[in-house]
Amino acid sequence: MSDFTNQRVLITGAASGIGRMMAQEFAQKGAHLVLWDVNKAGLDAARDELAAHPGDVAVYTCDLSNREAIYATAKQVLDDHGPVDILINNAGIVSGKPLLEIPDEHIERTFAVNTLALFWTTRAFLPGMVEKGRGHVVTIASAGGIVGTARMTDYCASKAAAISFDESLRLESKRLGLPIHTTVICPFYISTGMFEGVKTRFAWLLPILRPEYVVRRIMGAIRKKKRRLIMPRFVYVVYPVRLLPVTAFDGLLAFFGINKSMDEFTGRAGH
Ligand SMILES: NC(=O)c1ccc[n+]([C@@H]2O[C@H](COP(=O)([O-])OP(=O)(O)OC[C@H]3O[C@@H](n4cnc5c(N)ncnc54)[C@H](OP(=O)(O)O)[C@@H]3O)[C@@H](O)[C@H]2O)c1
Repeated sequence: MSDFTNQRVLITGAASGIGRMMAQEFAQKGAHLVLWDVNKAGLDAARDELAAHPGDVAVYTCDLSNREAIYATAKQVLDDHGPVDILINNAGIVSGKPLLEIPDEHIERTFAVNTLALFWTTRAFLPGMVEKGRGHVVTIASAGGIVGTARMTDYCASKAAAISFDESLRLESKRLGLPIHTTVICPFYISTGMFEGVKTRFAWLLPILRPEYVVRRIMGAIRKKKRRLIMPRFVYVVYPVRLLPVTAFDGLLAFFGINKSMDEFTGRAGH
């Protein structure tokens, strides 16, 4: 029996990338899964992949940029399965353009999916966790929430807000004595296709991460109820470097190639 046997785990953005891989890991460990995504075909394929596993798998098509859709889908999940034990807010999008080239509605959509959806899903499932006496809210943020970069104004700001959401929820839960854990995950670029074309200057310090590695570390962090996972470790350097004058900070970001990392970004075809 694993730590996740018979736990009900909800993963958003589970039709592809690390969301889909996390679903496989949880299924192998005996969890019951509730998978959300806007991509119905991808969700159905994910469910078929998991058919051989013992836990049940329920899929729900839901557009996480739409608050009403989130609340309606959450109500359906609660009616169908009762409260969830682990909520993984994983869905995310990126535009990857300079500020003046991003259509207004893309900026709004990025914040709706990467930030506001965290509020709506957590508000929908937190009461059930509290009633049950346990729960775990996992926020898949990004190293982009710790440090900004060119072509990422909307993405980095939305992920900084996600990190702040997790921190405030953690502190508020302590203050109110709520029986929940929170974990925030901040990876550097991952080779899932979402950030196709990105470059890193010193791959030995800041590698483009393999999704298998990222998922393994996330599973470990959730199992151990770690409050924060930043990868690779070198990203922690940003915190002390922020004590330097801004010109020195910017110079270091340029030296490490961070501010050029998105220059050849293409993203996933069709997005
Ligand atoms: N890849 C990286 O380099 C990287 C680095 C740091 C953090 N992250 C974060 O890690 C998370 C997962 O990233 P990933 O690389 O696995 O990305 P991914 O492969 O693109 O997976 C994201 C999933 O979210 C879904 N999604 C997008 N918009 C949605 C919406 N409005 N409603 C419901 N589902 C929606 C996508 O569906 P569609 O395919 O149909 O859009 C996709 O299935 C994201 O939060 C991302 O910001 C990624």
